[in-house]
Amino acid sequence: MAATASGRQAWRQLVRTSCRGPATTTPSTYSRLAFRRLASSTTQASPRRAATQSSSPSPSSFLRQQPLAQRSSYSSGSQGKSTPPRNSNNQVKFWPFLIIIACGSGGYMLLVNRRIEMPPTTTKPPSPAFSPTDVTVLFVLGGPGAGKGTQCARLVRDYHFTHLSAGDLLRAEQDRPGSQYGQLIRDCIKDGAIVPMEVTVALLENAMRETITTSKNKKFLIDGFPRKMDQALKFEEVVCPAKLVLFYDCPEAEMEKRLLERGKTSGRADDNADSIRKRFRTFVETSMPVVDHYESEDRVVKVDATSTPDGVYADTQTKLKKVLGDKF
Ligand code: C5P
Ligand code: MG
Repeated sequence: MAATASGRQAWRQLVRTSCRGPATTTPSTYSRLAFRRLASSTTQASPRRAATQSSSPSPSSFLRQQPLAQRSSYSSGSQGKSTPPRNSNNQVKFWPFLIIIACGSGGYMLLVNRRIEMPPTTTKPPSPAFSPTDVTVLFVLGGPGAGKGTQCARLVRDYHFTHLSAGDLLRAEQDRPGSQYGQLIRDCIKDGAIVPMEVTVALLENAMRETITTSKNKKFLIDGFPRKMDQALKFEEVVCPAKLVLFYDCPEAEMEKRLLERGKTSGRADDNADSIRKRFRTFVETSMPVVDHYESEDRVVKVDATSTPDGVYADTQTKLKKVLGDKF
Protein backbone atom coordinates (compact mmCIF):
# COMPACT_ATOMS: atom_id res chain seq x y z
CA MET A 1 0.00 0.00 0.00
CA ALA A 2 2.77 2.37 1.01
CA ALA A 3 4.49 1.60 -2.21
CA THR A 4 1.29 2.36 -4.12
CA ALA A 5 0.85 5.67 -2.27
CA SER A 6 4.38 6.81 -2.90
CA GLY A 7 4.01 5.73 -6.51
CA ARG A 8 0.82 7.82 -6.88
CA GLN A 9 2.58 10.79 -5.27
CA ALA A 10 5.45 10.47 -7.67
CA TRP A 11 3.02 10.34 -10.60
CA ARG A 12 1.20 13.52 -9.40
CA GLN A 13 4.54 15.23 -9.01
CA LEU A 14 5.46 14.24 -12.56
CA VAL A 15 2.14 15.49 -13.96
CA ARG A 16 2.48 18.81 -12.12
CA THR A 17 6.02 19.36 -13.36
CA SER A 18 5.16 18.53 -16.92
CA CYS A 19 2.09 20.84 -16.76
CA ARG A 20 4.14 23.66 -15.30
CA GLY A 21 6.94 23.19 -17.82
CA PRO A 22 5.39 25.04 -20.80
CA ALA A 23 3.97 27.74 -18.52
CA THR A 24 7.46 28.68 -17.37
CA THR A 25 8.74 28.93 -20.93
CA THR A 26 6.29 31.44 -22.40
CA PRO A 27 7.50 33.64 -25.28
CA SER A 28 8.09 36.51 -22.91
CA THR A 29 10.34 34.28 -20.87
CA TYR A 30 12.28 33.35 -23.98
CA SER A 31 12.66 36.98 -24.98
CA ARG A 32 13.67 37.98 -21.47
CA LEU A 33 16.36 35.33 -21.56
CA ALA A 34 17.45 36.46 -24.98
CA PHE A 35 17.59 40.09 -23.88
CA ARG A 36 19.63 39.16 -20.83
CA ARG A 37 22.06 37.32 -23.06
CA LEU A 38 22.20 40.30 -25.45
CA ALA A 39 22.57 42.81 -22.64
CA SER A 40 25.36 40.86 -21.06
CA SER A 41 27.14 40.48 -24.41
CA THR A 42 26.77 44.27 -24.99
CA THR A 43 28.18 45.12 -21.63
CA GLN A 44 30.95 42.62 -22.16
CA ALA A 45 31.85 44.38 -25.43
CA SER A 46 34.68 46.92 -25.42
CA PRO A 47 33.82 50.28 -23.83
CA ARG A 48 34.82 52.01 -27.08
CA ARG A 49 32.25 50.02 -29.08
CA ALA A 50 29.61 50.67 -26.49
CA ALA A 51 30.38 54.39 -26.66
CA THR A 52 30.13 54.37 -30.42
CA GLN A 53 26.79 52.63 -30.29
CA SER A 54 25.36 54.95 -27.69
CA SER A 55 26.46 58.12 -29.48
CA SER A 56 24.53 59.40 -32.51
CA PRO A 57 24.23 56.39 -34.83
CA SER A 58 24.86 56.46 -38.54
CA PRO A 59 21.84 55.71 -40.79
CA SER A 60 23.07 52.20 -41.39
CA SER A 61 23.91 51.53 -37.75
CA PHE A 62 20.54 52.99 -36.87
CA LEU A 63 18.85 50.49 -39.14
CA ARG A 64 20.96 47.74 -37.64
CA GLN A 65 19.91 48.79 -34.15
CA GLN A 66 16.19 48.58 -34.87
CA PRO A 67 15.84 44.84 -34.31
CA LEU A 68 17.90 45.17 -31.20
CA ALA A 69 15.45 47.76 -29.84
CA GLN A 70 12.58 45.45 -30.70
CA ARG A 71 14.21 42.66 -28.82
CA SER A 72 14.71 44.87 -25.81
CA SER A 73 11.00 45.70 -25.93
CA TYR A 74 10.24 41.99 -25.90
CA SER A 75 12.13 41.86 -22.66
CA SER A 76 10.08 44.58 -20.98
CA GLY A 77 7.75 43.16 -18.47
CA SER A 78 4.86 45.41 -19.58
CA GLN A 79 4.82 43.83 -23.11
CA GLY A 80 5.05 40.32 -21.87
CA LYS A 81 2.94 38.67 -24.57
CA SER A 82 4.79 39.94 -27.62
CA THR A 83 5.82 37.44 -30.34
CA PRO A 84 9.32 36.01 -30.54
CA PRO A 85 11.76 38.14 -32.59
CA ARG A 86 11.67 37.39 -36.27
CA ASN A 87 14.85 37.20 -38.30
CA SER A 88 14.15 40.71 -39.64
CA ASN A 89 17.88 41.37 -40.22
CA ASN A 90 18.00 38.83 -43.04
CA GLN A 91 14.94 40.38 -44.76
CA VAL A 92 16.56 43.82 -44.85
CA LYS A 93 19.76 42.37 -46.29
CA PHE A 94 18.37 40.24 -49.07
CA TRP A 95 15.23 41.72 -50.61
CA PRO A 96 16.93 44.57 -52.52
CA PHE A 97 19.27 42.05 -54.10
CA LEU A 98 16.38 39.81 -55.07
CA ILE A 99 14.66 42.79 -56.75
CA ILE A 100 17.86 43.78 -58.60
CA ILE A 101 18.40 40.20 -59.82
CA ALA A 102 14.76 39.92 -60.92
CA CYS A 103 14.89 43.25 -62.80
CA GLY A 104 18.24 42.35 -64.40
CA SER A 105 17.02 38.95 -65.59
CA GLY A 106 13.79 40.48 -66.92
CA GLY A 107 15.67 43.16 -68.84
CA TYR A 108 18.09 40.62 -70.25
CA MET A 109 15.25 38.37 -71.45
CA LEU A 110 13.57 41.39 -73.08
CA LEU A 111 16.79 42.25 -74.92
CA VAL A 112 17.29 38.65 -76.05
CA ASN A 113 13.71 38.41 -77.34
CA ARG A 114 13.98 41.73 -79.18
CA ARG A 115 17.23 40.55 -80.85
CA ILE A 116 15.57 37.33 -81.98
CA GLU A 117 12.70 39.32 -83.50
CA MET A 118 15.05 41.72 -85.32
CA PRO A 119 15.71 40.95 -89.00
CA PRO A 120 19.33 39.87 -89.69
CA THR A 121 21.55 42.75 -90.81
CA THR A 122 22.94 42.12 -94.29
CA THR A 123 25.76 44.31 -95.60
CA LYS A 124 25.42 44.38 -99.36
CA PRO A 125 28.77 44.33 -101.17
CA PRO A 126 29.26 47.35 -103.45
CA SER A 127 28.34 46.54 -107.02
CA PRO A 128 30.93 47.28 -109.76
CA ALA A 129 30.53 50.38 -111.92
CA PHE A 130 30.24 48.27 -115.09
CA SER A 131 28.49 44.97 -115.54
CA PRO A 132 30.60 42.15 -117.07
CA THR A 133 27.63 41.20 -119.26
CA ASP A 134 27.75 44.67 -120.81
CA VAL A 135 31.48 45.44 -120.69
CA THR A 136 34.31 43.03 -121.65
CA VAL A 137 37.60 43.32 -119.77
CA LEU A 138 40.69 41.26 -120.56
CA PHE A 139 43.67 41.76 -118.25
CA VAL A 140 47.02 41.53 -120.08
CA LEU A 141 49.94 40.47 -117.88
CA GLY A 142 53.58 39.52 -118.33
CA GLY A 143 56.98 40.62 -117.10
CA PRO A 144 58.48 43.97 -118.16
CA GLY A 145 59.49 43.60 -121.82
CA ALA A 146 57.33 40.54 -122.45
CA GLY A 147 55.68 42.33 -125.38
CA LYS A 148 52.27 43.15 -123.89
CA GLY A 149 51.98 46.52 -125.66
CA THR A 150 52.96 45.05 -129.04
CA GLN A 151 50.36 42.28 -128.84
CA CYS A 152 47.65 44.65 -127.60
CA ALA A 153 48.16 46.92 -130.63
CA ARG A 154 47.41 43.97 -132.93
CA LEU A 155 44.34 42.90 -130.99
CA VAL A 156 43.02 46.49 -131.16
CA ARG A 157 43.54 46.49 -134.91
CA ASP A 158 41.79 43.16 -135.51
CA TYR A 159 39.16 42.91 -132.78
CA HIS A 160 38.24 46.51 -131.96
CA PHE A 161 39.38 46.53 -128.40
CA THR A 162 40.26 49.73 -126.57
CA HIS A 163 43.79 49.42 -125.18
CA LEU A 164 44.36 50.92 -121.73
CA SER A 165 47.92 50.61 -120.42
CA ALA A 166 48.13 51.14 -116.64
CA GLY A 167 51.77 52.23 -117.05
CA ASP A 168 50.86 54.77 -119.77
CA LEU A 169 48.00 56.18 -117.64
CA LEU A 170 50.35 56.52 -114.66
CA ARG A 171 52.98 58.28 -116.74
CA ALA A 172 50.34 60.67 -118.10
CA GLU A 173 49.13 61.42 -114.57
CA GLN A 174 52.71 61.91 -113.39
CA ASP A 175 53.21 64.56 -116.09
CA ARG A 176 49.81 66.26 -115.67
CA PRO A 177 50.37 69.76 -114.28
CA GLY A 178 48.97 70.12 -110.77
CA SER A 179 48.63 66.36 -110.15
CA GLN A 180 48.93 65.61 -106.44
CA TYR A 181 50.26 62.12 -107.28
CA GLY A 182 52.95 63.24 -109.77
CA GLN A 183 55.94 62.86 -107.47
CA LEU A 184 54.66 59.65 -105.87
CA ILE A 185 54.19 58.02 -109.29
CA ARG A 186 57.60 59.23 -110.48
CA ASP A 187 59.33 57.69 -107.45
CA CYS A 188 57.47 54.37 -107.75
CA ILE A 189 58.21 54.00 -111.46
CA LYS A 190 61.90 54.73 -111.04
CA ASP A 191 62.15 52.12 -108.26
CA GLY A 192 60.05 49.58 -110.13
CA ALA A 193 57.60 49.67 -107.21
CA ILE A 194 53.81 49.42 -107.41
CA VAL A 195 51.88 52.69 -107.21
CA PRO A 196 49.12 52.62 -104.53
CA MET A 197 46.18 50.85 -106.10
CA GLU A 198 43.62 53.63 -105.44
CA VAL A 199 45.45 55.86 -107.93
CA THR A 200 45.71 53.24 -110.70
CA VAL A 201 42.17 51.89 -110.26
CA ALA A 202 40.73 55.42 -110.38
CA LEU A 203 42.71 56.27 -113.52
CA LEU A 204 41.48 53.09 -115.22
CA GLU A 205 37.86 53.64 -114.22
CA ASN A 206 37.93 57.22 -115.52
CA ALA A 207 39.48 56.10 -118.81
CA MET A 208 36.87 53.35 -119.25
CA ARG A 209 34.00 55.72 -118.52
CA GLU A 210 35.34 58.26 -120.96
CA THR A 211 35.76 55.63 -123.69
CA ILE A 212 32.26 54.24 -123.17
CA THR A 213 30.73 57.73 -123.31
CA THR A 214 32.66 59.01 -126.29
CA SER A 215 33.24 56.00 -128.53
CA LYS A 216 30.61 53.61 -127.13
CA ASN A 217 33.29 50.88 -127.20
CA LYS A 218 32.85 48.43 -124.34
CA LYS A 219 35.71 45.99 -125.05
CA PHE A 220 38.89 46.68 -123.07
CA LEU A 221 42.40 45.27 -122.98
CA ILE A 222 43.84 46.41 -119.67
CA ASP A 223 47.61 46.12 -120.07
CA GLY A 224 50.06 45.76 -117.17
CA PHE A 225 47.26 45.38 -114.68
CA PRO A 226 46.67 44.04 -112.06
CA ARG A 227 50.28 43.97 -110.88
CA LYS A 228 49.33 43.31 -107.26
CA MET A 229 46.52 41.35 -105.54
CA ASP A 230 44.96 44.45 -104.01
CA GLN A 231 44.64 46.02 -107.47
CA ALA A 232 42.94 42.87 -108.77
CA LEU A 233 40.47 42.63 -105.92
CA LYS A 234 39.63 46.34 -105.89
CA PHE A 235 39.17 46.62 -109.64
CA GLU A 236 36.87 43.60 -109.87
CA GLU A 237 34.90 44.80 -106.87
CA VAL A 238 34.34 48.43 -107.84
CA VAL A 239 35.00 48.71 -111.60
CA CYS A 240 34.29 45.50 -113.51
CA PRO A 241 34.99 41.77 -113.16
CA ALA A 242 37.41 40.61 -115.86
CA LYS A 243 36.60 37.89 -118.36
CA LEU A 244 40.14 36.45 -118.34
CA VAL A 245 43.86 37.13 -117.99
CA LEU A 246 46.07 36.96 -121.04
CA PHE A 247 49.51 36.08 -119.69
CA TYR A 248 52.66 36.49 -121.77
CA ASP A 249 55.33 34.19 -120.43
CA CYS A 250 58.92 35.16 -121.25
CA PRO A 251 62.36 34.36 -119.76
CA GLU A 252 64.06 37.20 -117.89
CA ALA A 253 67.17 37.18 -120.16
CA GLU A 254 65.00 37.79 -123.24
CA MET A 255 63.01 40.56 -121.50
CA GLU A 256 66.20 42.27 -120.31
CA LYS A 257 67.61 42.27 -123.86
CA ARG A 258 64.41 43.83 -125.23
CA LEU A 259 64.19 46.48 -122.51
CA LEU A 260 67.80 47.59 -122.90
CA GLU A 261 67.24 47.88 -126.64
CA ARG A 262 64.06 49.85 -126.11
CA GLY A 263 65.81 52.08 -123.57
CA LYS A 264 67.99 53.50 -126.32
CA THR A 265 65.00 55.43 -127.71
CA SER A 266 62.08 55.18 -125.27
CA GLY A 267 63.22 57.97 -122.95
CA ARG A 268 61.64 56.03 -120.06
CA ALA A 269 63.24 56.57 -116.67
CA ASP A 270 62.92 52.86 -115.83
CA ASP A 271 64.43 51.30 -118.97
CA ASN A 272 67.93 51.09 -117.45
CA ALA A 273 69.80 48.18 -115.90
CA ASP A 274 69.22 49.26 -112.29
CA SER A 275 65.45 49.85 -112.63
CA ILE A 276 65.02 46.73 -114.79
CA ARG A 277 66.50 44.56 -112.02
CA LYS A 278 64.05 46.07 -109.50
CA ARG A 279 61.12 45.64 -111.87
CA PHE A 280 61.95 41.96 -112.33
CA ARG A 281 62.01 41.44 -108.59
CA THR A 282 58.69 43.21 -108.13
CA PHE A 283 57.20 41.12 -110.90
CA VAL A 284 58.29 37.82 -109.36
CA GLU A 285 57.35 38.74 -105.80
CA THR A 286 54.20 40.80 -106.31
CA SER A 287 52.75 40.22 -109.77
CA MET A 288 53.23 36.47 -110.24
CA PRO A 289 50.96 35.74 -107.23
CA VAL A 290 48.21 37.57 -109.17
CA VAL A 291 48.73 35.27 -112.17
CA ASP A 292 48.71 32.26 -109.80
CA HIS A 293 45.47 33.50 -108.24
CA TYR A 294 43.70 33.69 -111.59
CA GLU A 295 45.25 30.40 -112.65
CA SER A 296 43.68 28.75 -109.62
CA GLU A 297 40.34 30.10 -110.86
CA ASP A 298 41.02 28.76 -114.36
CA ARG A 299 40.85 32.25 -115.87
CA VAL A 300 44.34 32.45 -117.44
CA VAL A 301 45.22 32.12 -121.14
CA LYS A 302 48.98 31.60 -121.19
CA VAL A 303 51.02 32.40 -124.29
CA ASP A 304 54.75 31.81 -124.80
CA ALA A 305 56.20 35.26 -125.59
CA THR A 306 59.74 34.26 -126.56
CA SER A 307 59.30 34.17 -130.31
CA THR A 308 58.76 37.01 -132.84
CA PRO A 309 55.84 39.44 -132.44
CA ASP A 310 53.99 37.75 -135.34
CA GLY A 311 54.58 34.29 -133.95
CA VAL A 312 53.33 35.31 -130.53
CA TYR A 313 50.30 37.01 -132.04
CA ALA A 314 49.32 33.90 -134.03
CA ASP A 315 49.48 31.90 -130.83
CA THR A 316 47.45 34.55 -129.02
CA GLN A 317 44.65 34.43 -131.58
CA THR A 318 44.44 30.65 -131.56
CA LYS A 319 44.24 30.50 -127.80
CA LEU A 320 41.74 33.32 -127.41
CA LYS A 321 39.46 31.83 -130.07
CA LYS A 322 39.45 28.55 -128.18
CA VAL A 323 38.17 30.29 -125.07
CA LEU A 324 36.06 33.16 -126.42
CA GLY A 325 34.94 31.85 -129.79
CA ASP A 326 35.93 33.00 -133.32
CA LYS A 327 34.62 36.56 -133.02
CA PHE A 328 35.79 37.56 -129.60
O1 C5P B 1 53.59 48.48 -117.52
P1 C5P B 1 54.75 49.40 -117.43
O2 C5P B 1 56.04 48.67 -117.61
O3 C5P B 1 54.59 50.52 -118.37
O4 C5P B 1 54.74 50.00 -115.95
C1 C5P B 1 55.70 50.93 -115.55
C2 C5P B 1 55.65 51.15 -114.07
O5 C5P B 1 54.39 51.68 -113.71
C3 C5P B 1 55.79 49.92 -113.24
O6 C5P B 1 57.13 49.50 -113.10
C4 C5P B 1 55.20 50.39 -111.92
O7 C5P B 1 56.09 51.24 -111.26
C5 C5P B 1 54.03 51.22 -112.41
N1 C5P B 1 52.79 50.41 -112.48
C6 C5P B 1 52.07 50.15 -111.33
N2 C5P B 1 50.93 49.39 -111.39
C7 C5P B 1 50.51 48.89 -112.55
C8 C5P B 1 51.22 49.14 -113.71
C9 C5P B 1 52.37 49.90 -113.64
O8 C5P B 1 52.44 50.60 -110.26
N3 C5P B 1 49.41 48.13 -112.57
MG1 MG C 1 53.84 48.46 -121.66
